[in-house]
Amino acid sequence: MTTDFQNWASQRQTAIETFLDRRLPGTDCVPVRLHQAMRYSVLGGGKRVRPLLAFAAGELSQADDQRVTIVAAAVELIHAYSLVHDDMPCMDDDILRRGKSTCHIEFDEATALLTGDSLQTLAFELLSEKRLSDDADTQLMMIKQLANASGSRGMAGGQAFDLDNVGKTLTLPELEFMHIHKTGALIRAAVMLGARCSNRLSDAQLEKLDHFAKCVGLAFQVVDDLLDAEATTATLGKTAGKDAENNKPTYVSILGIREARDRAEKLQYDADRVLNEFGNAAIRLRQVTDFIIKRKF
Ligand code: IPE
Ligand code: IPE
Ligand code: MG
Ligand code: MG
Ligand code: MG
Repeated sequence: MTTDFQNWASQRQTAIETFLDRRLPGTDCVPVRLHQAMRYSVLGGGKRVRPLLAFAAGELSQADDQRVTIVAAAVELIHAYSLVHDDMPCMDDDILRRGKSTCHIEFDEATALLTGDSLQTLAFELLSEKRLSDDADTQLMMIKQLANASGSRGMAGGQAFDLDNVGKTLTLPELEFMHIHKTGALIRAAVMLGARCSNRLSDAQLEKLDHFAKCVGLAFQVVDDLLDAEATTATLGKTAGKDAENNKPTYVSILGIREARDRAEKLQYDADRVLNEFGNAAIRLRQVTDFIIKRKF
C-alpha cells in the first residue's frame, strides 16, 4: 500500500468517524442504553471499506464530498447493523467483533436487536434529509437502491440463505448467489451511491461501474472466507475459524485455500479491467480494490 493511498484512506476514515460521531444520538439522550449500544457498535473500529469505495466512486464522478460523506455513512450504518445481528446467538453466535465484545455480549440480546433496527433506520434518515443529487428522482433512486441492497433481495436475503445452508455443500453458483447477496449487494450500493452524488457519469459508464462493483463485492466475501480460515483471532479482531466451527459453506470449504485465493485474484483482474476506460480517474477505486484483496484483516 502506498503512503499516498494510506493518507487518502485515513483522511476519509477520519471524516466518516467524525460525521457518524456527530450524527449518532449522544449517550445523554434517552434511551441511554440503546444509544450507548449504537455508538459502541459503530464508532472506533472497522476498516470502513464501504465508505472508502463510496469516496473513490465519488471522486470518479467528481461528486461533492459532503454528499458522498452522507451516503458513505448511511451504507456504513447498514453494515454495522448487519454485523450486530450477524453476531447474535440466533445467527453466527460470536463473542468478538472489531476487537471488542459483540453488542449482545456487552449489552444484551434485546438491545442488540434494537441497535440493529435503529442503525438501519438512521441510515435512511440520513439519505432523506439533505439534497444528495441535483435531481430529486435520482435521490429517490439512491434511497431505493440502498433499501433493495439491504433487504430480502439483498443483504438480509443473503443472510437467510447463509443460515438455511449450514451443514450443506453448495454448488459454486449457489455459493456465489449467497455471497453476492449477503455482502456484494451492500458493496455495490456503496459504489453506486457514491458515484450518483453527481450526474457526470453517463448511463453506460454507470453500468461499467456497476459491473466493477459486482466483482469487488464478491471478491470481498471470498477474501473474508479465506481470512476466517487462515488468519488469527488477534489479527482479525473477530473469532477465526468460526466458519468451519459453524459448518458454513464457504469458498474455502468448497474450493480449498489455493483455488479460493485464485478466484479472488481473478475477480480483482476483472474489476480492474472494467475500470480501464476511466483511466487515471479510477485510481482510488483500483487502490481500494487492491486493499480489499490483499488485506490481512
Ligand atoms: C465483515 O465486514 C463482514 C462481511 C460482510 C464479510 P468487514 O470486514 O468490512 O468488517 P469491518 O467493518 O472492517 O469490521
Ligand atoms: C456476514 O458474513 C455478512 C454480513 C454481516 C451481512 P460473515 O458472517 O462471514 O461475517 P463475519 O465473518 O462474521 O464478519
Ligand atoms: Mg454470518
Ligand atoms: Mg459472522
Ligand atoms: Mg466471515
